[in-house]
Amino acid sequence: MSIKIPFLSKQPKESDSLSEENAPNHVAIIMDGNGRWAQKRGLPRFAGHKEGVSTVNKIVKTAVKANVKVLTLYTFSTENWKRPKQEVEYILKLPKEFLHVYLPSLMENNVRIQTIGDFQALPSHTQEAVNYAKEKTKHNDGLILNFALNYGGRYEILKAVKQIVSEVKEDDIDMSSLDEETFSKYLYTTGVSDPDLLIRTGGECRLSNFMLWQMAYTEFWFTDKLWPEFTEETFYEALLAYQHRKRRYGGI
Ligand code: FPP
Repeated sequence: MSIKIPFLSKQPKESDSLSEENAPNHVAIIMDGNGRWAQKRGLPRFAGHKEGVSTVNKIVKTAVKANVKVLTLYTFSTENWKRPKQEVEYILKLPKEFLHVYLPSLMENNVRIQTIGDFQALPSHTQEAVNYAKEKTKHNDGLILNFALNYGGRYEILKAVKQIVSEVKEDDIDMSSLDEETFSKYLYTTGVSDPDLLIRTGGECRLSNFMLWQMAYTEFWFTDKLWPEFTEETFYEALLAYQHRKRRYGGI
């Protein structure tokens, strides 16, 4: 069965329709290129991040219409603290600004907010705004909008290992029963399926410490488009490309 794409101004050919059977369940995005988008226009980097927030709103709506179940956005990495203090402060105010403007529309669209990352180390205003939205949306059962905030893949794995070692010492878990499924439960993403599709904008082709464990079998799709110029059409292009991939998981 194919999905109609009412949000696209130009409809694709029948053969290029999104089919429900192999639509990606979980899409993760590395939203890169905000700074360059601003610099190209002679604007400060902040302007690119601001424009990036509007793109987030558009892509969330598109994900809802395309029946994506989980959308994980790499919003702030554990390495992003190395940026100038003012830029860090600006980026960490964006979740609050985004939620202030768009929470009513997220509610209308049945979207549930979640996060992955070291939440406690974020400024209190960021935590409060996001916690409020998590609470408000907790009964929504549509798209899960998952913000990776102060997230690092290696940190996440190390944290899980430390927790497991301490539980083994306390005899709370038996080492011999530890398998991949059990290990996954110690990660931030417990209960959420692994990403099927990773999109990275901005022309770079690397993972930048994003969901290292979870992306073992994820399909990657890269575009030169900078995040503020990423459109619903580009998103659709990525979803369609995913559908043409053959996922073999090591088999034949
Ligand atoms: C990478 O581009 C972008 C970030 C580190 C920040 C991403 C944040 C947003 C898109 C806005 C957040 C939105 C919400 C709703 C919370 P870059 O600055 O590294 O770009 P560059 O490579 O061109 O310098």
